[in-house]
Amino acid sequence: MSPETKLEQVPIENDEEIPYLQNPVYDEYPFGKTVYFETYGCQMNVNDAEYAWAVLQNAGFKKTDSYLMADVILLVTCSIREKAEDKIWNRLAFLKTLKRKQPGKGFPKLGILGCMAERLKKKIVEQEKAVDIVAGPDAYRDLPRLLEQATSESTTAINVMLSVDETYADIMPVRMDELSKTAFVSIMRGCENMCSYCIVPFTRGLERSRPVESIVNEIKQLSDQGIKQVTLLGQNVNSYRDLSEVQHKPTPEDVAPMSKGFKTIYKPRLGGLRFAYLLDRVSQIDSEMRIRFMSPHPKDFPDEVLHLISERPNICNHIHLPAQSGSTKVLEAMRRGYSREDYLNLVDRIRHLIPDVSLSTDMITGFCSEDEIDHQDTLSLLNLVKYNFAFLFKYSMRKKTHAYHKMKDDVSQEVKGQRLAEIMEIYQQKLVEVNSQCLGTNQLVLIEKPLQKNPDVLMGRTDGGLKTFIPNSPIPTSVNSQDTILPKPGDYVAAKLTSYKPNSFRAQPLHLSSIKSFYSTGSR
Ligand code: 5AD
Ligand code: SF4
Repeated sequence: MSPETKLEQVPIENDEEIPYLQNPVYDEYPFGKTVYFETYGCQMNVNDAEYAWAVLQNAGFKKTDSYLMADVILLVTCSIREKAEDKIWNRLAFLKTLKRKQPGKGFPKLGILGCMAERLKKKIVEQEKAVDIVAGPDAYRDLPRLLEQATSESTTAINVMLSVDETYADIMPVRMDELSKTAFVSIMRGCENMCSYCIVPFTRGLERSRPVESIVNEIKQLSDQGIKQVTLLGQNVNSYRDLSEVQHKPTPEDVAPMSKGFKTIYKPRLGGLRFAYLLDRVSQIDSEMRIRFMSPHPKDFPDEVLHLISERPNICNHIHLPAQSGSTKVLEAMRRGYSREDYLNLVDRIRHLIPDVSLSTDMITGFCSEDEIDHQDTLSLLNLVKYNFAFLFKYSMRKKTHAYHKMKDDVSQEVKGQRLAEIMEIYQQKLVEVNSQCLGTNQLVLIEKPLQKNPDVLMGRTDGGLKTFIPNSPIPTSVNSQDTILPKPGDYVAAKLTSYKPNSFRAQPLHLSSIKSFYSTGSR
């Protein structure tokens, strides 16, 4: 590992010496114990907020949905692009001016949690004197102690140590939306891929997987609570390897563990329990619970995983396959570990084994040295693959990354903007083709919630993850039934897709259904 890629790691060796691991209860916060969370960035952050909330709830805190009522305001932050950070700086400037509504109470305590905390600890504390608590992604257990420390006006309590083994395996996250029928479950943390543009390995630390049994237990509990969809989360969710208890001897498959043509710059781990094993276990917990996963890396899609997705009706037929670029030259500069051809071969393989799969991607435009030919390659990749959805970004150079140290951010903002508009256009043109092919098909929609703006409409998602709207009105209770019922969040509804907008469908609901009955012959 080169000096610039060295991570700040502090392994926890002796729990006895760390007071916050002994579950203390802090009753005497002079500033009150009502906390408000605001979450930015990816789904990992949504789940991180749930861990932070679990820790604080255990320490006697109450949650509020209004920052005006809060004694403590915690922002769970994202550093992935400059724009994401700017948003949080602006929010902080506003929150600093806030006085609490209750008479006699002054300013609320402000805390920065997550990726920005790790990256900008110095600026946040010394330059900006902006906040009272700074807690990195591996320091949420420490929140009660940090809050207690931050009692005086001039003290900022900080813990941004990255751990090599923290997975919060023993903490049951507390969901922010208690009524939701979907949940996130973190299965691994950190990333070692060191893609040259990416800050994540520096803000979230080394890759580590949570033990299988703790994941299975959490999902069993969620199933008992009536949760109908679990999304397994991780920065490289399919690189999962539980090395904790069972030390399997490396199999021949472990020795060549990656998709054909793919490589890493770090030495791949061998042995342990892998993603296919985990997916097999969690999909057997509750056959009426949908399993999704986010975000995978293209390098770890062995046929074993693809077969499982194809065979198990409750593992959703959606694969997020972040390409990042369509040019082999740029992919090399990005250190992605695959060429355009390897990526396209993988897409073919996936479509061969899972014919009705829905595919999505992340794409960065304007990376260092990207020229017009590279840009055309990206346009042609979008043309060829025809994604069901895509997240398209302008490159934003981040300090600490390999690109920051070794490359030039040499594509102007103007050109980045033009290229983004062009890739957006091609993506949307193709989307029209992809969406039109779905019209008239029957899909199994898991209802999530009524629309806030229009409660007469229910929002749900198809197996492929496509957002779908149906009227909030009674439907037959089963395929041949005369009885009707109002569908509610957590219900499966068989529905025919009738029209679309770029990123959503409208559907005519047919009848209430289940995974079992929908996918058994004749019941669609
Ligand atoms: N600039 C722009 N986009 C980025 N991403 C990661 N780092 C950067 C960056 N420096 C994008 C990648 C990744 C997604 C989560 O964010 O596409 O997959
Ligand atoms: Fe960043 Fe690459 Fe790791 Fe994804 S795989 S988090 S893009 S370094």
